[in-house]
Amino acid sequence: MDRCNKLVDVGRRQFLRGGAFAAAGMATAVALPAQSQAKAAPGLALVEYPSNKLANVADLKVNEPLEVNYPDENAPGVLLKLGTKVEGGAGAEGDIVGFSTVCPHKGFPLNYNAEDHSFNCPGHYSRFDADAGGQQIWGQSTANLPQYALRIDAKGDIYAEGVDELLYGRLSNVL
Ligand code: FES
Repeated sequence: MDRCNKLVDVGRRQFLRGGAFAAAGMATAVALPAQSQAKAAPGLALVEYPSNKLANVADLKVNEPLEVNYPDENAPGVLLKLGTKVEGGAGAEGDIVGFSTVCPHKGFPLNYNAEDHSFNCPGHYSRFDADAGGQQIWGQSTANLPQYALRIDAKGDIYAEGVDELLYGRLSNVL
């Protein structure tokens, strides 16, 4: 029994020693990110988007998508004046939005439903809400619909200057 108690004591000491090493290791691990942050190269993952004029506000009719391409000719999308202010909407009424029209699931071209402001995929039936920043409503896509960052100047010219999700089929939105 006495021998057994000694073994337990040895076990406790080894456990405590191991805990001390683990604590030291954690302290080092916590300290490392601060050092590496100080040396981190800026913006390696950032993409430089072009600022492309897509249309003028006068070209838009309420609830009728205007076909555009952004950030390049191989990336179809639409500008849309929704008629009611939405979060992230551009323009004086805060109702102008822009989206890619390539389904994020497997790249089918999307159709716009003016009745409920949704983009609908004929491939596997995913649906996206234009009033809610392209949020997926239903379906197999694992991403929301990529939305353009829009800027409208004093003349009413509409510029796209970025995209908030990865365009389907690309490793980067700007090739
Ligand atoms: Fe659109 Fe599959 S390609 S849901």
